[in-house]
Amino acid sequence: MDQYAIWGGNPLVGEVEIGGAKNTALPILAAALMTDDTVIIDNLPDIRDINVLLDAMKNIGVVVERRGRHQVKINASQIFTTAIEGNGIRKMRASYYFLGALLGKYKSASVGLPGGCEIGTRAIDQHIKGFRALGAKVRLEHGIIITEAIDLTSAHIFLDVVSVGATINLMMAAVLAEGQTVIENVAKEPHVVDVANFLNSMGANIKGAGTDVIRIRGVKSLHGSEYTVIPDQIEAGTFMMAAAITKGDVTVKNIIPKHLECISAKLKEIGCEVQESDDAVRVFCSKCLKGTQVKTMPYPGFPTDMQPQISVTLGLSAGATSIVRESIFENRFRYLEELTKMGAKATIEGNVAILEGVEKYDGASISATDLRAGAALVLAALAAEGFSTVDHIHYIERGYEDFPEKLMSLGGHIRRVTNAEELKKARLKVV
Ligand code: EPZ
Repeated sequence: MDQYAIWGGNPLVGEVEIGGAKNTALPILAAALMTDDTVIIDNLPDIRDINVLLDAMKNIGVVVERRGRHQVKINASQIFTTAIEGNGIRKMRASYYFLGALLGKYKSASVGLPGGCEIGTRAIDQHIKGFRALGAKVRLEHGIIITEAIDLTSAHIFLDVVSVGATINLMMAAVLAEGQTVIENVAKEPHVVDVANFLNSMGANIKGAGTDVIRIRGVKSLHGSEYTVIPDQIEAGTFMMAAAITKGDVTVKNIIPKHLECISAKLKEIGCEVQESDDAVRVFCSKCLKGTQVKTMPYPGFPTDMQPQISVTLGLSAGATSIVRESIFENRFRYLEELTKMGAKATIEGNVAILEGVEKYDGASISATDLRAGAALVLAALAAEGFSTVDHIHYIERGYEDFPEKLMSLGGHIRRVTNAEELKKARLKVV
């Protein structure tokens, strides 16, 4: 029953602190299993996916000490199995990072994996291709990926698809493999670089992260480390887009502007003002939004995880027609059906969405269809005229820490309601 109750129409104004990057923190926690020493990770986002991963680690004997909401102390020297199980794990794609970490350290791993998900089939053939190239055997039994090796040896791997997950997983699998492993056609996302930096802080020898080719010279073992996760560029981008869609003035703080360059460029294209400083970006927008073209691409292109957020914004570029091409995932426009309930004019042709900007959205009862689409629909409701409800908010709370609270601090009229009574009060604007 949990849902967000939203009264739209208030421009969002103010400052918001951005948390640690979910898609960096998840593989870094898995990589922490690769040493018997203690590891301290800071700036973790306090979100469900992180907490599910930490619980799975505890279940195999990892000592996990939470030190506040955003820091954890980990020691994996006493783990008693390399088989990761659990319902939460099966629902979370990032659990595949345990394969690379445990195979790399213990030469064996088995993880229950989800199949496809809300945005596409989410294959892992490139991960498997790389593990086999390093000398591991890989098989699938009853939905569980099992991989093991007598020894791992260096390899020259050419990824057929630019894959964030495969790039990171193969980096982890190779750091203790004898010799030099070369991985080509790799992903260059900031979180790939951050995981490489973390592994190097543990004594790994990884060069080239952030470029098209990563070279890994195997080392004998990894030691402990204290590491701080980079800020979440998608959380930051989501709040930047919130400023645009509500014609507000939002400063996102504790960010790395370089990671946001493509998002900032698109916001300028549609008529927003964007001001960058060392660790903050201010976005303000008072005039009508313009239309534009968007094509999602691997970093440094426009991120697929920002596609729903910019699409709902372009839906309000009144009088303009925008084209959004989703080149990474095959089914990432499902939320547009929800958006049309609010009055949007959107049509989908294959992996292209055509958005004819309208003057306004009307409040409606809508459902989050996945993590980023859910966040985007909340932005649409905050910009709409009238009252909206967004349900299936568990998707959103997987990846955004304190999302309604941060939006409220910017003047958004949003409440989390858990029952009909609370919903009735929210609808009557009884706070
Ligand atoms: C990561 O997913 C992110 N998730 C995704 O964020 C993000 O959208 C994606 O990278 C792209 O940036 C995490 O980091 C936990 P990929 P990942 O492997 O690694 C195909 C979010 O909202 N592919 O880069 O699974 C794949 O099907 C989530 O935070 C293969 O064909 O993405 C997709 O079409 C959503 N074979 C494309 O490559 C493979 O072996 C990119 O996938 C692997 C991937």
